[in-house]
Amino acid sequence: MDIRIFKEGTADYDRALALRDRELRQPLGLRFTTEELKKDEHDWHFGLFDGDEIAACLTLTACDGSRMKMRQVATDSAKQGKGLGRILSHAAEKFAADKGFEVMFCNARKSAVPFYEKLGYKIVSGEFTEVGIPHYTMEKQLTHGQ
Ligand SMILES: CC(C)(COP(=O)(O)OP(=O)(O)OC[C@H]1O[C@@H](n2cnc3c(N)ncnc32)[C@H](O)[C@@H]1OP(=O)(O)O)[C@@H](O)C(=O)NCCC(=O)NCCS
Repeated sequence: MDIRIFKEGTADYDRALALRDRELRQPLGLRFTTEELKKDEHDWHFGLFDGDEIAACLTLTACDGSRMKMRQVATDSAKQGKGLGRILSHAAEKFAADKGFEVMFCNARKSAVPFYEKLGYKIVSGEFTEVGIPHYTMEKQLTHGQ
Protein backbone atom coordinates (compact mmCIF):
# COMPACT_ATOMS: atom_id res chain seq x y z
CA MET A 1 0.00 0.00 0.00
CA ASP A 2 1.20 3.51 -0.65
CA ILE A 3 0.28 6.89 0.79
CA ARG A 4 -0.55 9.58 -1.73
CA ILE A 5 -1.17 13.30 -1.14
CA PHE A 6 -3.34 15.02 -3.73
CA LYS A 7 -5.42 18.11 -4.39
CA GLU A 8 -9.08 18.61 -5.16
CA GLY A 9 -10.00 17.93 -8.81
CA THR A 10 -7.73 14.89 -9.29
CA ALA A 11 -8.71 11.25 -9.90
CA ASP A 12 -7.41 10.35 -6.41
CA TYR A 13 -9.60 13.09 -4.93
CA ASP A 14 -12.65 11.55 -6.64
CA ARG A 15 -11.71 8.16 -5.13
CA ALA A 16 -11.38 9.72 -1.66
CA LEU A 17 -14.66 11.58 -2.04
CA ALA A 18 -16.46 8.33 -2.89
CA LEU A 19 -14.99 6.74 0.27
CA ARG A 20 -15.96 9.77 2.39
CA ASP A 21 -19.48 9.67 1.01
CA ARG A 22 -19.80 5.95 1.73
CA GLU A 23 -18.31 5.95 5.25
CA LEU A 24 -19.11 9.42 6.61
CA ARG A 25 -22.30 10.66 4.94
CA GLN A 26 -24.47 7.78 3.70
CA PRO A 27 -24.69 6.10 7.15
CA LEU A 28 -26.19 9.38 8.43
CA GLY A 29 -28.57 9.68 5.46
CA LEU A 30 -26.70 12.82 4.31
CA ARG A 31 -24.94 13.97 1.14
CA PHE A 32 -22.12 16.51 0.79
CA THR A 33 -23.30 20.03 0.05
CA THR A 34 -21.59 22.30 -2.49
CA GLU A 35 -20.63 24.58 0.42
CA GLU A 36 -18.93 21.69 2.27
CA LEU A 37 -17.00 20.59 -0.82
CA LYS A 38 -15.82 24.14 -1.48
CA LYS A 39 -13.74 23.81 1.72
CA ASP A 40 -11.71 21.06 -0.02
CA GLU A 41 -10.21 23.39 -2.63
CA HIS A 42 -7.22 24.62 -0.64
CA ASP A 43 -6.66 21.51 1.46
CA TRP A 44 -4.26 18.60 1.39
CA HIS A 45 -5.96 15.26 0.85
CA PHE A 46 -4.31 12.01 1.92
CA GLY A 47 -5.14 8.49 0.76
CA LEU A 48 -3.83 5.03 1.52
CA PHE A 49 -3.99 3.11 -1.76
CA ASP A 50 -3.63 -0.42 -3.04
CA GLY A 51 -3.07 0.40 -6.72
CA ASP A 52 -5.96 2.74 -7.52
CA GLU A 53 -8.18 1.29 -4.81
CA ILE A 54 -8.44 3.60 -1.80
CA ALA A 55 -8.55 2.03 1.67
CA ALA A 56 -8.40 5.10 3.93
CA CYS A 57 -8.46 8.86 3.58
CA LEU A 58 -8.24 12.12 5.49
CA THR A 59 -8.01 15.83 4.78
CA LEU A 60 -5.83 18.54 6.35
CA THR A 61 -6.90 22.18 6.62
CA ALA A 62 -4.39 24.82 7.77
CA CYS A 63 -6.20 27.05 10.28
CA ASP A 64 -3.40 29.45 11.09
CA GLY A 65 0.39 29.26 11.18
CA SER A 66 0.44 26.79 14.05
CA ARG A 67 -2.77 24.76 14.02
CA MET A 68 -3.74 22.14 11.46
CA LYS A 69 -7.20 20.54 11.39
CA MET A 70 -7.55 16.86 10.49
CA ARG A 71 -10.99 16.08 9.10
CA GLN A 72 -12.89 13.60 6.93
CA VAL A 73 -10.98 10.66 8.42
CA ALA A 74 -12.36 7.37 7.11
CA THR A 75 -11.29 3.78 6.51
CA ASP A 76 -13.20 1.48 4.18
CA SER A 77 -15.54 -0.50 6.45
CA ALA A 78 -14.13 -3.81 5.14
CA LYS A 79 -10.62 -2.71 6.21
CA GLN A 80 -11.24 -1.07 9.58
CA GLY A 81 -9.37 -2.25 12.66
CA LYS A 82 -6.22 -3.16 10.69
CA GLY A 83 -4.15 -0.10 11.63
CA LEU A 84 -4.77 1.84 8.40
CA GLY A 85 -6.30 4.90 10.08
CA ARG A 86 -3.32 5.02 12.44
CA ILE A 87 -0.80 4.80 9.54
CA LEU A 88 -2.48 7.59 7.58
CA SER A 89 -2.92 9.85 10.65
CA HIS A 90 0.75 9.44 11.52
CA ALA A 91 1.73 10.38 7.96
CA ALA A 92 -0.49 13.48 8.16
CA GLU A 93 0.99 14.46 11.54
CA LYS A 94 4.53 14.14 10.18
CA PHE A 95 3.57 16.19 7.10
CA ALA A 96 2.13 18.95 9.32
CA ALA A 97 5.07 18.90 11.75
CA ASP A 98 7.54 19.13 8.85
CA LYS A 99 5.68 22.23 7.65
CA GLY A 100 6.10 23.82 11.11
CA PHE A 101 2.59 23.26 12.50
CA GLU A 102 2.57 22.74 16.27
CA VAL A 103 -0.89 21.34 16.96
CA MET A 104 -3.17 18.91 15.13
CA PHE A 105 -6.83 19.05 16.09
CA CYS A 106 -10.07 17.49 14.93
CA ASN A 107 -13.78 17.51 15.64
CA ALA A 108 -14.16 13.85 16.53
CA ARG A 109 -17.39 11.93 16.42
CA LYS A 110 -18.10 10.55 19.90
CA SER A 111 -17.92 7.04 18.39
CA ALA A 112 -14.38 7.74 17.12
CA VAL A 113 -13.02 9.29 20.35
CA PRO A 114 -11.32 5.99 21.43
CA PHE A 115 -9.53 5.85 18.06
CA TYR A 116 -8.08 9.35 18.51
CA GLU A 117 -7.21 8.64 22.16
CA LYS A 118 -5.14 5.65 20.98
CA LEU A 119 -3.30 8.10 18.71
CA GLY A 120 -2.54 10.46 21.60
CA TYR A 121 -5.29 13.05 21.12
CA LYS A 122 -6.98 14.65 24.16
CA ILE A 123 -10.51 16.03 24.43
CA VAL A 124 -10.39 19.84 24.76
CA SER A 125 -14.09 20.79 24.43
CA GLY A 126 -17.49 19.92 25.74
CA GLU A 127 -19.83 17.81 23.64
CA PHE A 128 -21.39 19.55 20.62
CA THR A 129 -23.45 18.51 17.61
CA GLU A 130 -22.23 18.34 14.00
CA VAL A 131 -23.98 16.51 11.15
CA GLY A 132 -26.64 15.66 13.75
CA ILE A 133 -24.39 13.58 16.03
CA PRO A 134 -22.28 14.25 19.16
CA HIS A 135 -18.70 15.42 18.69
CA TYR A 136 -15.73 16.60 20.78
CA THR A 137 -12.78 18.72 19.72
CA MET A 138 -9.57 16.77 20.31
CA GLU A 139 -5.97 17.87 19.85
CA LYS A 140 -2.41 16.69 19.92
CA GLN A 141 0.88 18.54 20.18
CA LEU A 142 3.06 17.76 17.17
CA THR A 143 6.69 16.85 17.65
CA HIS A 144 9.18 18.02 15.08
CA GLY A 145 11.24 15.27 13.53
CA GLN A 146 8.72 12.64 14.71
C1 LIG B 1 -12.58 5.80 13.06
C2 LIG B 1 -11.85 5.11 11.92
C3 LIG B 1 -11.32 6.17 10.94
C4 LIG B 1 -10.67 4.31 12.49
O1 LIG B 1 -9.92 3.78 11.41
P1 LIG B 1 -9.26 2.31 11.45
O2 LIG B 1 -8.42 2.15 10.25
O3 LIG B 1 -10.33 1.31 11.68
O4 LIG B 1 -8.39 2.46 12.79
P2 LIG B 1 -7.06 1.63 13.20
O5 LIG B 1 -7.25 0.21 12.81
O6 LIG B 1 -5.86 2.34 12.66
O7 LIG B 1 -7.14 1.79 14.78
C5 LIG B 1 -6.08 2.30 15.59
C6 LIG B 1 -6.41 1.92 17.01
O8 LIG B 1 -7.66 2.52 17.40
C7 LIG B 1 -8.60 1.51 17.81
N1 LIG B 1 -9.92 1.92 17.31
C8 LIG B 1 -10.25 2.29 16.06
N2 LIG B 1 -11.56 2.64 16.00
C9 LIG B 1 -12.05 2.45 17.25
C10 LIG B 1 -13.33 2.65 17.84
N3 LIG B 1 -14.38 3.12 17.12
N4 LIG B 1 -13.48 2.35 19.16
C11 LIG B 1 -12.44 1.89 19.89
N5 LIG B 1 -11.18 1.71 19.39
C12 LIG B 1 -11.00 2.00 18.09
C13 LIG B 1 -8.13 0.25 17.12
O9 LIG B 1 -8.58 -0.89 17.80
C14 LIG B 1 -6.62 0.42 17.22
O10 LIG B 1 -6.18 0.11 18.51
P3 LIG B 1 -4.86 -0.79 18.80
O11 LIG B 1 -3.71 0.03 18.28
O12 LIG B 1 -4.86 -0.99 20.26
O13 LIG B 1 -5.05 -2.04 17.99
C15 LIG B 1 -12.77 4.11 11.16
O14 LIG B 1 -13.34 3.23 12.11
C16 LIG B 1 -13.89 4.75 10.35
O15 LIG B 1 -13.69 5.10 9.19
N6 LIG B 1 -15.08 4.88 10.97
C17 LIG B 1 -16.24 5.45 10.28
C18 LIG B 1 -16.05 6.91 9.95
C19 LIG B 1 -15.65 7.73 11.17
O16 LIG B 1 -16.28 7.67 12.21
N7 LIG B 1 -14.59 8.54 10.98
C20 LIG B 1 -14.10 9.41 12.04
C21 LIG B 1 -14.84 10.69 11.98
S1 LIG B 1 -14.31 11.80 13.28
